[in-house]
Amino acid sequence: MSVAKKEYKRVTVKSLVEMKQNREKISMLTSYDYSMAKIVDAAQVDVILVGDSASNVIAGHETTLPITLDQMIYHASSVVRAAKRALVIVDIPFGSYQSDSKEALRSAIRIMKESGAHAVKVEGGSEIRQSVSRILEAGIPVMGHLGLTPQSIYKFGTYTVRAKEDKEAEKLKQDAKMLEEIGCFGIVLEKIPAALAKEVAESVSIPIIGIGAGNGVDGQVLVVHDLLGMTHEFNPRFLRRYMNLYEEMGKAISKYVSDVKHQDFPNDSEQY
Ligand code: KIV
Repeated sequence: MSVAKKEYKRVTVKSLVEMKQNREKISMLTSYDYSMAKIVDAAQVDVILVGDSASNVIAGHETTLPITLDQMIYHASSVVRAAKRALVIVDIPFGSYQSDSKEALRSAIRIMKESGAHAVKVEGGSEIRQSVSRILEAGIPVMGHLGLTPQSIYKFGTYTVRAKEDKEAEKLKQDAKMLEEIGCFGIVLEKIPAALAKEVAESVSIPIIGIGAGNGVDGQVLVVHDLLGMTHEFNPRFLRRYMNLYEEMGKAISKYVSDVKHQDFPNDSEQY
């Protein structure tokens, strides 16, 4: 069932701004490989994010910090081959844009050239203004990411809700304005109070995509493994699980093991 206000054969950064203007909510979901991205794209998700959360859900690291630019490009190119409709945005990983704007541009160009993705995402506000500007000047669309920015986890110390205090909320609002002014096409707001996220969404003309940021924003993003219930230990309040694939897959795989052990698989019709 489609609830789209306008059909898009191919979603672009311009389509997202148009969706905001038309008050059509934007759906965004992560993917890191071809098979998952094919399903996500066919389900009409507007934006596929090749998130550096691949570091957690694919590689099993505790944080997003270890994933490399080469690894992100590998994931992104697999997703790009599957996405026929969705806009594909790729996280520039930790350590590939923070030191200077030249390095930031080089990393963004590698992602665009080697993966075929359509845009990049970076975490942070005023601290990375020069890097974001330089990437934008090269004609590469950039999405910002404010609030809980997992690449800064060791600065925050915990994954709790950000910007509850006035000072941090004020900086976040100024950073969102700044990212809009320099030309970002959208911003992810992660794990901040819903009222603050709504205020930011109403104060800028570019789409604000929330994760743990309430319903007053222009769209939502989740990690696909969380939505499908594959990551069963992760239970934040903002997460709605649409399946329990951890259990379902476990049952299917146990049945396979049992069938092999009992010589039930393969049967006569499953051999040559
Ligand atoms: O890496 C990621 O998956 C993200 C989303 C959680 C927004 O940045």
